Amino acid sequence: DGDVVVLGIETSCDDTAAAVVRSDGEILSQVVSSQCIFNVASAGLSGGWMGVFFECANAIHLLAKYGGVAPKMAEEAHSQVIDQVVQEALDKAYMTEKDLTAVAVTIGPGLSLCLRVGVQKARRIAGGFNLPIIGIHHMEAHALVARLIEKDLRFPFMALLISGGHNLLILARDLGQYIQLGTTIDDAIGEAYDKTAKWLGLDLRRSGGPAIEKLAMEGNAESIKFSIPMKQHKDCNFSYAGLKTQVRLAIESKKIDAKIPISLTSKEDRLSRADIAASFQRIAVLHLEERCERAIQWALKMEPSIRHLVVSGGVASNQFVRARLDMVVKKNGLQLLCPPPQLCTDNGVMIAWTGIEHFRMGRYDPPPPAEEPEDFV
Ligand code: KG4
Ligand code: ZN
Repeated sequence: DGDVVVLGIETSCDDTAAAVVRSDGEILSQVVSSQCIFNVASAGLSGGWMGVFFECANAIHLLAKYGGVAPKMAEEAHSQVIDQVVQEALDKAYMTEKDLTAVAVTIGPGLSLCLRVGVQKARRIAGGFNLPIIGIHHMEAHALVARLIEKDLRFPFMALLISGGHNLLILARDLGQYIQLGTTIDDAIGEAYDKTAKWLGLDLRRSGGPAIEKLAMEGNAESIKFSIPMKQHKDCNFSYAGLKTQVRLAIESKKIDAKIPISLTSKEDRLSRADIAASFQRIAVLHLEERCERAIQWALKMEPSIRHLVVSGGVASNQFVRARLDMVVKKNGLQLLCPPPQLCTDNGVMIAWTGIEHFRMGRYDPPPPAEEPEDFV
């Protein structure tokens, strides 16, 4: 079953990504150009443009934070690199457009200006080479990419998607049939990691999550008693804004100065920062554990044949998160599945693969007209 070859294009947030995947699960190529502010200095493809606003948050975050300016800048950044990213994905797969079976592209959720860059590119290729086109839901792709990695992963299964912008628990009953069990009512967990890292004066050339994970190993997770979010709400929703505030207050009360980088601070001050990192991480993850446990119980009542919980998104690369969730999942008779980190974060492979899943079921659109005006989409 390697007869279908799909090009996947993703531009919904701050990464411009493309990949070529075959229906037997072979990843023929993958390219990601990141606009993240932390990467600007070292960026190849996206280097040089203004690294003003990206804090690795999702589209909704960007909009909330920077109003109407950010989408325009993000669109420009995507437009600058999209041709190059797609070309590189084809070249790395030793293919031309003629070798493709179809083109898959993210159509939402995300900023429409950004999505449009990907959709226009996909339509140009599909129109020019007479290929079917498949519109993909970004969150569906995050969940389904696990089926590329684990061939035994059958519907129904559960998925927890955790990143800077997503905090979502779903029950995937079948292709195209998803029940949302829980979502965040404010911030996503990755946002809380990133802010904590910033306030603790950690090195932010990379994102905050890995820095907190590392520092937490030096600290005592019991030292500060942060309260667990939404204890009184017996549902599967999440909230991280309150925990963020608790952390900020703890940092203020310990007189930690984020302007002094952790590498230059005293041993005592370093330890006090590590205690906060560890205590924060323990509660942030405990919140995930509690919600997952309840969600599993809910989901098993609807679908007793569930065997797996997929955990994906940037935060899923955290070893502490994995170990704790693994315990909860095993205790409830399921198995934990985490895609490798480069498939957990936004990427083109998940779009191409979800395209393949839809294509196999006959869910695609016919090729668009070869010549359509640029502003058609
Ligand atoms: O999926 P992703 O690359 O982008 C989106 O947010 O869409 O996720 C990035 C988020 C950031 O908040 C980052 O701090 C977090 O994932 N992250 C981690 C770790 N690695 C990345 N958080 C905790 N521990 C990690 N090891
Ligand atoms: Zn995403």
